[in-house]
Formats: sequence, C-alpha cells, structure tokens
Amino acid sequence: MPQQLALSRAARLIGVSRAALQKRIKDGGLHSFDGTISTEELLRLYPDLDLEDSGLFEQTRKIKEEAFRRRIMDRTLPAKEVLAERLFEQGMELNDLRQHLQRYHTLVVGLQSRIRELSGNSPAGGVALDQLDQWLERELRHVLGEEQKPDSLAVMDAMLKVMSAHVSLQPSGRDFFVEGNDTLLEAALKAGLALNYGCSSGNCGLCKARVISGQVMKTRHYDYVLSDPEKQQGYTLMCCHTAVSDVVLEALEAKSASDIPKQQLTARVKAVTQLSDSMMMLHLRTPRSHRLRFLAGQSATLGHAGAGSAEFPIASCPCNDRDLQFHVERGLGGAFGERVWNGMKPGENVTVYGPWGDYILNEDTQNNVIFVAFDRGFAPIKSLLEHSMARESNEEMGLVWGTSTPDGHYMNNLCRAWTDALENFRYLPVFMAGRDSAEAAAADVVDRLLAEFPKTRQADLYLAGPEIYIAPAMAQLLAAGFPKSRLTAMAV
Ligand code: FES
Repeated sequence: MPQQLALSRAARLIGVSRAALQKRIKDGGLHSFDGTISTEELLRLYPDLDLEDSGLFEQTRKIKEEAFRRRIMDRTLPAKEVLAERLFEQGMELNDLRQHLQRYHTLVVGLQSRIRELSGNSPAGGVALDQLDQWLERELRHVLGEEQKPDSLAVMDAMLKVMSAHVSLQPSGRDFFVEGNDTLLEAALKAGLALNYGCSSGNCGLCKARVISGQVMKTRHYDYVLSDPEKQQGYTLMCCHTAVSDVVLEALEAKSASDIPKQQLTARVKAVTQLSDSMMMLHLRTPRSHRLRFLAGQSATLGHAGAGSAEFPIASCPCNDRDLQFHVERGLGGAFGERVWNGMKPGENVTVYGPWGDYILNEDTQNNVIFVAFDRGFAPIKSLLEHSMARESNEEMGLVWGTSTPDGHYMNNLCRAWTDALENFRYLPVFMAGRDSAEAAAADVVDRLLAEFPKTRQADLYLAGPEIYIAPAMAQLLAAGFPKSRLTAMAV
C-alpha cells in the first residue's frame, strides 16, 4: 500500500525543491491529499527515479555546499544518543504494526472457523457460507503468497527519518529538517526561518518554544531555568535541544525588522579577500555564544579600534550560521574602509552593531522573485537571494546585475554556480558602460529585465544599488505599469 509523505519529505526524497512540487500540484500534474503525496504518485511523476543514485537525493545539500560556499555541514551523523532514540522510535512503530497485523490475522482465522462452524450447523445457508469460506481461503492464499514489491520511496523515507527529523512550526505552518548534530535553532536558521532567540547558548531563554508533539532531546548544557508551569506545558530551549522524532513546535518568528532587537558584539576577522580591483570581501565570524540576529537584506555598523566605523549591507544570509560577509568598495566606508583595504588581518576584532534597515523579503507571498542589482547593490541582493534559496518557497528566481565597470560582476562565478545548481534560477549580467548618463544605463538594465524575464510583471521585484541608478529604474518600472506594492528598493 503506498505511503503518504509530507510535501517537504517528498521533495527531499526525490531531490527537488518544495516549490517545484507545489508548482506541479498547482498545475494539476500531481495529486496531493491534505498536504501529502503518495509514494505511488511520486513514482508515477518521476518514473526514472533511481534511489541508488545519490546525486538526485543529495542535490539540495550540494546546492548549499557548492553554491553557498558554506563550510561543509550537515554531513555528520547525529549523536549516537539521538540515533539510538530514533531507532528505538522506529522499533516501537514497527512493533505496533506487527501487533496490529497479528490481531488482524487472529481475527481472520477466527472468522474462517466461525464460518465453517455455521456452515456445518445451517443446512439452509450452507451453500452460501461454503462459498464465502472458499472465497476467503482463495483470497488469503493470494494475498499471503503474492510477491510484494517493496515501496522503495517508503523504505528510503524510513531511513531518512533516522538520519534527520522533520519539524513543523505553529502557527506559521513552516517546516524544516534537523540534521547531524544541529540544535532545533541552528536547523531552523539554516532553513531561513527567523525564529526568536538571543544568546544561542542557553542563558537568555529567548528561544523558548512549546513542543506540541514529538520528542526532543537536550544536546547542550544550559543555565536558563524553565519554570515548573513552563516545563509542564512542554516548553523547551531550541538552542540546546535537538529533535529525536518528527516534532510540532509552537514558536514565534520575526515578521518585520522591528521584531529584531539591536545588538552589539565583537566578531573576529576570518578573511579579507579581494574580489576585484575595487571590491574587497570582509568575512567575520561571531562568537558561538553571541551571534548576530538579523533578517536577510539588513545592514550593520562595523567598527575597528582606531579606524572608526561605517555601515555596510550584510552580504551573507542569516542561514550562514556565525559567518557574516560584507563587500567593501575601495574609497567607501571612510577610515574603516581604508583599514579593510590596507592591512586588516584575520584574527583582528571588529565590533558589529545592528542590524539596520527594513530592506527585507516579503515572506507573505510565494510570488516569483527577481532581484536587480546595480554595482555594489549586489551585497544586500546576495543576502536576499541566499535566503530565498534556503527557504525554497519561490517557484522561480531571477537576478539581473548591471555594472558600470568591466570587472564589476565581482562574484560572477558564484552567480553562475547558482544557475548550474538550481533549476529555478536565472542570471543575467548586464554591462552598462558606454551610456551617456546613469538614467540611460538604468533604462538599459530595466529594458533587458522586461525583455528577458517575461514573468516580471507577476513577480516581486527587489532593487539595490547606488541612488543614481535606483531612482530612474524605479521611475521607469512604475511608468511601465509595474505595481508599486511589489517593488522594494534600497540605495546603497
Ligand atoms: S537563545 Fe538564549 S537560551 Fe536559547
């Protein structure tokens, strides 16, 4: 009998995004029931699915590792205690099923003997009861002797349940998987969810969430004391617990920039990498016990002893764990920028203060999204894009990057890697040089956008870049009838 799988599990099994399956359902090509898909239906849609070929199976993870250029993650097995608990859970489930089957078997055998007994005692109805007895005998022989082909997707799903746990959030209905040794909080952040938290080390209690169903396990020490009523109601600290079984959690998510408090922390320089003649990447790592909570697209003020401070858009995604990236253009950022370009070294301390700004993704829509970057505007766009990729909820994503200098596409390889790794992503680099004015250059980019992305008018559009390009680009889009409600822009 085919098994019903939750949409996220089904997507994970066959190595496509959840948005891709949602699109299939919307188009009528895939039947779903109550938010679930049967393994039979999945195999009908993907008949060539080869579960032995881990390429398909691992595709989502490869995207994260190769295209996001993150540290290798999620590949480790869960801790042995967690594995043991998960195997125990599966053993219990299996045992339940066996007992259930045993009861059915006893019932059928009892029924058969009762029919025979009645048939012998009832000459009037004997013929019918004999026929029923023969039919039952025939069907039992057929069912028990039939060679059952294993449901390969169900088998793989059972294996996945041991390796990772599925978490659904209430009231938002969003979900994510917990893999390796990740805590609930780490797994949620990697999946692009903006859950409430503070210290991430068991001291503040801000990551409290209520376990509605399922089992969680403590994996890190914590000092915060949950009150007795909280314990009775099932509250847990997400930063110190992992999921043993599939879990439903009640937890609040940040909806807007105003839900994120201002924070100050000291991070260490991990690397300073020159990306082009005019762009440097500053890579910071925050302490394990003090991460920066922010929403993709926001900015932060960076300070360095003796080199003042300056504000920069964060070029990485909140899903990048403790890593923060900033793109520092030559000549910008005052003394701080000067320091980045001339002598900032790995291991030095940088003060991070923020986050700032409300240039964030509208999480309430599942429209296609198109990002339009002008020159250094790529930094906040990169953050938004990586966040969209982690969320996996947009059917299609596009990036148009207009630059005014020949080496302006300073992360071209990354954009091309995204194109290779993601079926639903398209990248269009535009070189704007040779135009008489910034207006003409911006018009060029908008014309290419409208011509080469036919679904632009149904998409949410995010623009970022120097004001000289953003203002005319916005004016042109509005004049072309693009709805203001779906336009978000930031001058950087
Ligand atoms: S984030 Fe502070 S206790 Fe979990």
